[in-house]
Amino acid sequence: MEKSISEIEKEALTRLENTTETEEIKELSLHYLGRKGVLTKFLRNVSSLPENERPIAGKNANILKSTLDIAFNNVLKELESTKDDNVAGIDVTLPGRSCKRGSLHPITQISNEISDIFLRLGFDIAQSPEVETDYYNFEALNIPKYHPARAMQDTFYISENIVLRTHTSPSQPRTMEKTDPPVRIISPGKVFRCDSDLTHTPMFHQVEGLMVDKGVSFGDLKGLLTTFIHQIFDNKTSLRFRPSFFPFTEPSAEVDIRCVICRGKGCRVCSRTGWIEILGAGMVHPAVFEKIGYDTDKYTGFAFGMGIERIAMLKYGIDDTRKFFENDIRFLRQF
Ligand code: PHE
Repeated sequence: MEKSISEIEKEALTRLENTTETEEIKELSLHYLGRKGVLTKFLRNVSSLPENERPIAGKNANILKSTLDIAFNNVLKELESTKDDNVAGIDVTLPGRSCKRGSLHPITQISNEISDIFLRLGFDIAQSPEVETDYYNFEALNIPKYHPARAMQDTFYISENIVLRTHTSPSQPRTMEKTDPPVRIISPGKVFRCDSDLTHTPMFHQVEGLMVDKGVSFGDLKGLLTTFIHQIFDNKTSLRFRPSFFPFTEPSAEVDIRCVICRGKGCRVCSRTGWIEILGAGMVHPAVFEKIGYDTDKYTGFAFGMGIERIAMLKYGIDDTRKFFENDIRFLRQF
């Protein structure tokens, strides 16, 4: 015998490792395992070995035979499957899968648009937390303990003294505590109320506005809001101030705009009144200034709070607020 079993094994496996073609492997298989193959010959010649070596040599040759058989077959299978991938499985001429790019949510877009207008008018943007203390959400805004806005059915309470802010108005005392007049800020963000129907979602967005200086008047408020409405809609959109009540402004007003859908004729969106309420506003109540420590003889100011969804609905002609937050890509893709 020229070669030992271990030499045959080493040689066969090295040759297998260096093969990449199916045909070559088939040839290798024939060379070692075929009828006239190296191993077959070896087994046939076992009888010529000294008697005590025969059993072990025969056993080892048989083990190597099945080892090589398995190894050749595995490599063949592997080659077959990668061939499938390259040839049958993947059509390399197909265009690649494109990565869909998202866009800004319509509420974010409108919020940015609103901010841009006020930035051009000289306002800064103030941040204010969404999880708020009872003090800033109510107390500092002159909202007394018995006020209905504090009731559990309107407010999400985290604990006795911590709430999810029900409006962006806490940004008023928070800003004034940090700065002396003049103050000119807007503060956009999320607010939360226990409420859910066609025109209410438990989370929605507001933009707060606050201006404090010497001699600020209700006329300034009206001028500013008119300019804003003309810019966000168009300068044919008229405004209406209705007397109202907020504990933190005096006098207070609710502001309506001429329905931009029907132009005042009356439609479903404006409940046939021709007008749509978009914000609450008023002159900052002296009690609010006093808590901050602003001199009420020297300074006056106005504040307003506007619903962003309202503006977005009117601008885009959407009749159900909930659509904004259902994450339906077919809806969101339109903006
Ligand atoms: N915070 C009030 C609301 O959510 C709106 C408002 C803001 C009214 C500022 C007056 C001044 O309804």
